[in-house]
Amino acid sequence: MGVSIVITSGKGGTGKTTVAASLASCLSALGKTVICVDADIGARNLDIALGLSGGISGSLDLSDALRMPDEPGAALTAHPDLPGLSLISAPLTRRVSELDTRAFAPLIRALSARADFVLVDCCAGLEDGFFMSVNACERAVIVSTADASSLRVAARCAQLTGKEKRPRLIVNRVNPKLIVGRNAPEIDDIMDATGLPLLGLVPEDEMVSAAANRGVPLTLAGGTGAAAAILRIARRLLGEDVPIGRMKRWQVNG
Ligand SMILES: Nc1ncnc2c1ncn2[C@@H]1O[C@H](COP(=O)(O)OP(=O)(O)O)[C@@H](O)[C@H]1O
Ligand SMILES: [Mg+2]
Repeated sequence: MGVSIVITSGKGGTGKTTVAASLASCLSALGKTVICVDADIGARNLDIALGLSGGISGSLDLSDALRMPDEPGAALTAHPDLPGLSLISAPLTRRVSELDTRAFAPLIRALSARADFVLVDCCAGLEDGFFMSVNACERAVIVSTADASSLRVAARCAQLTGKEKRPRLIVNRVNPKLIVGRNAPEIDDIMDATGLPLLGLVPEDEMVSAAANRGVPLTLAGGTGAAAAILRIARRLLGEDVPIGRMKRWQVNG
């Protein structure tokens, strides 16, 4: 039985989709099976971040999977370049209120039986779509940028998520100089602001949008910057003791 993790934030544009896609590709590169679920109903873009946007047209989506939660195989699109990675995309033209959201938790449970990791890319906001995703998953990762307004929403998001999901924080789009430096008081401030354990820091990196625009998963597009940081986070998720605060080249076998 695999573990299900919701990637959430409360706020839009913090990097949930980027983190979900890159973590999924790193876990796949590390030999794990991963199912990504785009739960951003009506505003899907996990397919783009995974470089799969051409591959899902015509296939079934989350609204179909929710109609047959015990047998979700037909709605999975396998990634052609990332072994063991597949995606259930979100419907583009539906709203959360039109879906059978009670079937979401059984669906995530059924998917967890088929993969090492199920990563759910949550919508923005702390409304119905948020609770659908959070309640269905065993663990939560909260993605925030380092600014005060994003951190405040992250803290609220963690409260609503609940301690039993063991929420951990990823701070995204951090000034790279902050991460390399040994003395980074701002990072202590960030931890204090949310009260959440830190899962990782991801630097601001122009490769993120460049890779998405080229239709290539970030981790296949580059070996440094954000891709390297996400690989380190993936290793932490696998239980490895990878220190926070130092950047290395992206290397699966290093
Ligand atoms: N570490 C980063 N460095 C540079 N740009 C980033 C980074 N993370 C995300 N972005 C950009 O920020 C925007 C929002 O990211 P996205 O993952 O879609 O956020 P969310 O899913 O939380 O709405 C996208 O244009 C993405 O390319
Ligand atoms: Mg998103």
